[in-house]
Amino acid sequence: MGEVKMNKRKRTFSGIQPTGSLHIGNYIGTIKQWVEMQKDHQCIYCVVDLHAITVPKKPEVLKERIREVAALFIACGVDPEKSIIFIQSHNPDHSVLSWIMDCTASMGQLERMTQYKSKSEKQKGFVSVGLFNYPALMAADILLYQTDVVPVGDDQKQHVELTRDLAQRFNSRYGEVFTEPEVSLQKVGARVMSLQDPSAKMSKSDEDPNGTIDLLDSLEEVKKKIMSAVTDSGKEIVFKKEKLAISNLLGIYSQLGNISIEELEKKYQGKGYGEFKKDLVEAVVEFLKPIQKKYYRIMKNQEGLEKILKQGGEKARAISQKTLAEVYKVMGLG
Ligand code: TYM
Repeated sequence: MGEVKMNKRKRTFSGIQPTGSLHIGNYIGTIKQWVEMQKDHQCIYCVVDLHAITVPKKPEVLKERIREVAALFIACGVDPEKSIIFIQSHNPDHSVLSWIMDCTASMGQLERMTQYKSKSEKQKGFVSVGLFNYPALMAADILLYQTDVVPVGDDQKQHVELTRDLAQRFNSRYGEVFTEPEVSLQKVGARVMSLQDPSAKMSKSDEDPNGTIDLLDSLEEVKKKIMSAVTDSGKEIVFKKEKLAISNLLGIYSQLGNISIEELEKKYQGKGYGEFKKDLVEAVVEFLKPIQKKYYRIMKNQEGLEKILKQGGEKARAISQKTLAEVYKVMGLG
């Protein structure tokens, strides 16, 4: 094994792209898991800015978004004293191992990635090589840190499975260097759906702003969006496949209000969608208020934030350098 872990705690790595505003889908699918894992895991959380440039971004907007996303990690409960928080491009090892992963993955493997297929179809005319190679960079992110567990939303599961395959291929070619990571998904909320179209994922790139609830939405916006969320036919408030819209709202309520689905079903037995939605507004608002307060406080202290990110980058690199040295050695590089 490349790096000897100093303690027995499992290591987690995960990341979010600084594209668009973070929404409750990002929180429920992944950040909520990150916060919980701090109790008994060694955690590394990354603002993956190199992933964000597969589609060109305005430099000044990207720079600002990176800080916003990092501040939101902390506002949501990621504790810089317990976890490493850093910006991907601060650690050049990601780009180096990414190339090695490009040489480990086959074209066929990357062509099968469903996210590449859907994202490349949406690009008019120009599809960058980066968009195609993106899962190899993601594999590098994970493998650099000898990650045991990768907490993500359902849409990233295929990329983590690819990462396992690449780790296996590399290890069988050169010897046991990489840990094979496991994916960790939420039981409820691994795929939070749009409020306007419950058959589509809630997404940062959704053109209809009413489909997503952003972590920084005003409380008025939250109310408007939930009250206008589509519902299913019938009146029952139950969690089942045939009731996509209500099941989605129940999942959001359960995860943000910390109440089980069973309790919610019981509470709303015989009650209407109107009452349910009003209470959901309340639960979401109560959840968002302290996060927003903390977020604005962090953003006021940019110096403090930069310091956290700089130190995080250094700690991250101290780990990844060991993996990379092992990779160079077994491959005969240098
Ligand atoms: P990204 O930036 O698109 O999304 C960040 C995280 O949020 C999850 N997510 C959702 N979960 C539930 N419901 C939704 N509607 C929803 N929308 C998004 C995503 O699954 C993800 O966990 N490739 C990754 C970033 C990445 C990464 C990594 C993750 C780069 N390297 C290494 C883990 C490990 C991405 O684009 O996520």
